Amino acid sequence: MDRIDQQEDQTGDAPISEAVPGQPPTISTGGQPAYFSCWDIHAYYGESYIVQGVSFDVREGEIIALLGRNGAGKTSTLRAIARVDDPALKHGEIWLDHKPLHDMKAHQAAQIGVGLVPEDRRIIQGLTVEENLKLAQIEPPIGWSIERIYDLFPRLGERHSQEGTTLSGGEQQMLAIGRTLARDIKLLLLDEPYEGLAPVIVQEIEKTLEQIKSLGITTIIVEQNAIAALHLADRAIILEMGQVVFDGTSQEVLDNAELRQQYLAI
Ligand SMILES: Nc1ncnc2c1ncn2[C@@H]1O[C@H](COP(=O)(O)OP(=O)(O)OP(=O)(O)O)[C@@H](O)[C@H]1O
Ligand SMILES: [Mg+2]
Repeated sequence: MDRIDQQEDQTGDAPISEAVPGQPPTISTGGQPAYFSCWDIHAYYGESYIVQGVSFDVREGEIIALLGRNGAGKTSTLRAIARVDDPALKHGEIWLDHKPLHDMKAHQAAQIGVGLVPEDRRIIQGLTVEENLKLAQIEPPIGWSIERIYDLFPRLGERHSQEGTTLSGGEQQMLAIGRTLARDIKLLLLDEPYEGLAPVIVQEIEKTLEQIKSLGITTIIVEQNAIAALHLADRAIILEMGQVVFDGTSQEVLDNAELRQQYLAI
């Protein structure tokens, strides 16, 4: 497996192979190894240094809101976690359920349970709703059955034979989430799932995300609609210029107008 090159000159940290999952950071987990953990991750688009030493832990079954202004590095952090090529992870560790994501390519990360729902949803043109879902199941690890996905999103069942790209924005978001659940996932990464959606549809998707949480799936949600994300999430991580500037409960952010004004402009 590929190892990420240690950049000795950058931080002078101990070799990454000696590190223990979740240690550090363990600020939020009281010394217990975290279910999911980023430790000092640094990621680049070419020469552009974007994710600048992000660390945080997530407990199993938690929903984390990853927040910050435009350009703060939220999408880049999600992409680094999902191990897509861009941005390139050049330093740090990412662990999911004791497995080293930092050593993996995107397809390996997907196989061990990372499910990224990108902002543009990527519904496949020319395929029906059901074909989009079935395509996600062409190879193991297969997750939810198509029937179970329709139980969670009845609208998708009603429109199973409709071409996916002709669905409304909200339905396309449901299909994008449903397609991810069709794979056996442990960590759901959502990039701006509420973007462009009417409040009533946002509420509908919120309810399904709560149901997904009740099934024990761990979720990281990036959202410009920070208030909605904070009401859903247990904890919040706030990024600013590619660095973590806050890690705490959602309630702390909701209660702290100064913090919200400073980093979220709300
Ligand atoms: N492919 C790329 N190549 C070079 N720089 C990029 C690339 N994608 C993003 N960036 C830069 O990385 C920084 C972080 O971008 P990112 O998309 O992660 O931010 P974000 O927090 O998701 O913002 P937004 O709220 O606008 O979605 C920005 O300065 C952006 O211009
Ligand atoms: Mg983004």
